[in-house]
Order: sequence, then structure tokens, then C-alpha cells
Amino acid sequence: MLEKIKSHINQSLQSLKNENIIHLSSYLSHGKMLRSKLILAIAPNHPKVLELCAIIEMIQSASLLHDDVIDEATSRRGEASINAVFGNKNAIMLGDVFYSQAFYELLSFDIKIARSVAKCVVRLSSGEIDDVMMSNAFQSDERLYWRMISDKTASLIATSSECAAILEGLDFEKYKNYGENLGIAFQIVDDILDVFGDEKKLGKPAMSDFKEGKSTLPYLLLYEKLNNQDKQKLKSFFRQDGIEAREWILARMNENNIFDLAQKIARDYGQKALKAISKEKNEHLESIVNEMIFRQY
Ligand code: FPP
Ligand code: MG
Repeated sequence: MLEKIKSHINQSLQSLKNENIIHLSSYLSHGKMLRSKLILAIAPNHPKVLELCAIIEMIQSASLLHDDVIDEATSRRGEASINAVFGNKNAIMLGDVFYSQAFYELLSFDIKIARSVAKCVVRLSSGEIDDVMMSNAFQSDERLYWRMISDKTASLIATSSECAAILEGLDFEKYKNYGENLGIAFQIVDDILDVFGDEKKLGKPAMSDFKEGKSTLPYLLLYEKLNNQDKQKLKSFFRQDGIEAREWILARMNENNIFDLAQKIARDYGQKALKAISKEKNEHLESIVNEMIFRQY
């Protein structure tokens, strides 16, 4: 099924009859396609399900193309990023093509679906603005972190579940709620893996968030536990690279059991997601939560 979605995206791009777009997009990889897996689990037999998956994946790709320019990232999913190979201008424009083509295809869907996706892209962009603003200095306000991850990550996961439920004629509020909580758990797991994960499995260098100016949950939890002197030291390592910073941070994280604390929070969000759809009896959606919580990359 996932292969069919990829070929749907290719067909959609082929229809633009522009060899530069085809060439640039041949360098993109699609990753785990979590959002499509959710849509397929909710509306598996709907005639427009592949089209909806392709739209959501194109928006996801557009946002990551732009995000890699913003973050000056040189790799994505273990491969060189488009901005690294073809420059920022091409990466931005390819993102715009994906984004606009997705909206063009969205026009053939129910207005409720189009509205949910359009609103979601506003949230994605707001979350990204928050992320950029927050990267100027270490910020210890957890509320900003929650708002940022909810907009930047959970929104598209929630919209994917909601739109699939609308397509299938189900109680879409429950599925949206499921997606929102799953999305938050997903981002926390990502933030945990950045600190404690295996670089080879992740396809990116370990502990890159803090160095890139992201004060993620493990750092916020750690900050709360440290004495004033160590709080200042942690702040002094913000946006810094180097073995001293990494070793010091990791030692403090381990002393303060930050892995367990953050994982408990991620699991609580996983539980909330499961509770939202407890009466729906959808085993696929249940196992997606568990796979996501226990993933290594
Ligand atoms: C990755 O964050 C970024 C996102 C999930 C969203 C980015 C959103 C935009 C750039 C808004 C524009 C949207 C469109 C559709 C054009 P990250 O940097 O924390 O994660 P990473 O480690 O995967 O890069
Ligand atoms: Mg990024």
C-alpha cells in the first residue's frame, strides 16, 4: 500500500511535466509514512484513501524541505538533504510545488477535509515560527514547548486521523484527539532519542537538538532538577558543540533519571491516545501507538 502511495505522488508530479521537479524529487525519501499508516488504518477501503495519503505526504515533505533550509540541515533520513545538494532556492521551491500540488488535489475532497488540512498548515507554520523564535536563547518555559510541539508535529498527525475519519463517516473528534495525543507522544520520543538514541539508527548525529537551539523536553526536565550553578552551566552549553558539553549534559541527564521521566510522559500521552479511541476497537491504531512509543529511531 505504501508503495502505491509513492507511485500516486510520482504520478501527481509527472503530471506537471517539468523534468527539474522530477529530478529534484527523485532525491527525496519518504521515511516511515506514519501519517499514511494512520489514514489507511482508519479508512482502508475508501476509494479516495490513497489520494488523501498522497496529499498528506506531500504536505509533510513540503514542510520538511522548508524545515531543512531553516535548520541548515545537511541530512534527512540518513541521506543528503535537498538544500545540501541543490541549494536553498531549489529546496524552497520544491517545497512550494509539493504544497501547492497537494492543495490542488485537495479541491476534489469534502470541504471539511480541505478546511482541516488548510488550518493544519497554518498550525505547522506557527509551530515552526515558535521553534525559530525559541532557538534564540535557552527557554525554560514548558508551556511554550507544549504549544510548539502541538502545532509543529501533532497537528498534521491529528489532521490525518481526523480527515480519514471524515472520509469514512466516523466520529472524527475522537480520531482527531487520538492523533493529537499520538503526535505529542511521537515528538517526545523523538526528543528522547535525540539525547539517548543510537546515531546510526537515527541517521543523524546524536544530541543535535540542543546544539541547533532546541530546548526539548529532556532539557526542560533536566533544567528543573539542577541547582542554580548547574542551571547556568546548562544554559552556557546552549547552541554549543563539543565533547565537553555533550559529556556533561549526558552525565547530568543520567544522574537525574531524565530518560525515565520523559518516557513516562510520552507513555501517558500514548495512553490518552488509546483512551480517545477505546470504543472504536481499531487494533491497527492501538498497535501504532505501541510501536511508536517503543521505537528506536
Ligand atoms: C521538523 O521539525 C519540522 C516540522 C515538523 C514542521 C515544519 C513546518 C514548516 C516549515 C511550515 C511550512 C509548511 C509547509 C507545508 C510549506 P524539527 O526540525 O524539530 O525536526 P527534524 O529533526 O526532523 O528536522
Ligand atoms: Mg529540522
